[in-house]
Amino acid sequence: MKALILSGGKGTRLRPLTYSGAKQLVPVANQPILWYGIKSIVGTGITEIGIIISPETGEEVRAVTGNGDRFGAKITYILQEQPAGLAHAVKVAQPFLGDSPFIMYLGDNIIESQLESFLAGFKNQNLDALILLRQVSNPSAFGVAKVDASGRVLQLVEKPKEPPSNLALVGVYLFSRGIHEAIANIKPSARGELEITDAIQWLIDKQKPVEARTLEGWWLDTGKKDDLLEANRIILDTRIVPSVMGTVDDKSQVIGRVQIGAGSKVVNSSIRGPAIIGENCYLENCFIGPYTSIADRATLIDADLEHSVILQGAKIERIQQRLVDSVIGRRAQLTVALKRPKALRFMIGDDSQIELV
Ligand code: G1P
Repeated sequence: MKALILSGGKGTRLRPLTYSGAKQLVPVANQPILWYGIKSIVGTGITEIGIIISPETGEEVRAVTGNGDRFGAKITYILQEQPAGLAHAVKVAQPFLGDSPFIMYLGDNIIESQLESFLAGFKNQNLDALILLRQVSNPSAFGVAKVDASGRVLQLVEKPKEPPSNLALVGVYLFSRGIHEAIANIKPSARGELEITDAIQWLIDKQKPVEARTLEGWWLDTGKKDDLLEANRIILDTRIVPSVMGTVDDKSQVIGRVQIGAGSKVVNSSIRGPAIIGENCYLENCFIGPYTSIADRATLIDADLEHSVILQGAKIERIQQRLVDSVIGRRAQLTVALKRPKALRFMIGDDSQIELV
């Protein structure tokens, strides 16, 4: 069994962060989103992993993620020249996949469930495809499945205007080598992409064994800001182990589950978990509320924030109001020069969002 993780795409819904980096590398609780998928795959015992990369962000994904040593896996990077669809990505990966069955994992998805039980079902039943479904309130934003009373998949449609059910396709799929024949037999969709939903539909139409399982636990598709904040909240809530590697002075208070990385200094501040602070950060006179992730080398002085994600090297100084529900990009600076500022002066990247509420 091998794994194929898709880490291409343009990440348009996470702009402006994705103008300068891959969406799969945006951190959730200070770790690239992509790494959660790699770790859960390695957790099943699969160590041969192919990662699909794009010409725009592929080098960054490779540099940050490496050859797999840090995960106990062997990673092969596979370049997809154009974002021509999920089934196209499988086609490009065919030399890597060979005849092996494989798990396909979309690199911006994080799921709570362990993958083992799905893998066991797939192998025991000799399936050509096992798909995961989850009930959602906005099915039109996803691939949607129509299933019969016994859970058999009848039809799959990509982002339908009139969804046949509220069961969305989760970005984790298991395939036998039979998927390659299916992909060879489909045509690009109206949006010009080779859709994996069409390839699975081809298998269904040919009466091949295709099954679905419904996910009960949480599933996060981190494509947008609010989803990213929600992923951050859930990961901090469920997976943070308290540890203080940096220094915290006597005038500071650290309450609840908080991680503070090596080389970081906390001065006269209050930190309420769950929260994570990376390495070599400097915090002075701050209140850091729950569900906040602060990445390496950030500087925060006289700042008050909660439920936010601060990226590497960002600087926040003397903001009188509490910052909430915010994502601050790498090296961004948010500072107030005077106690009672008379004007606001901005240099804001394309597609940024500023809300004074
Ligand atoms: C892709 C798939 C869609 C699936 C979704 C899950 O959409 O095409 O079927 O439901 O991932 O994350 P995308 O997020 O690339 O638009």
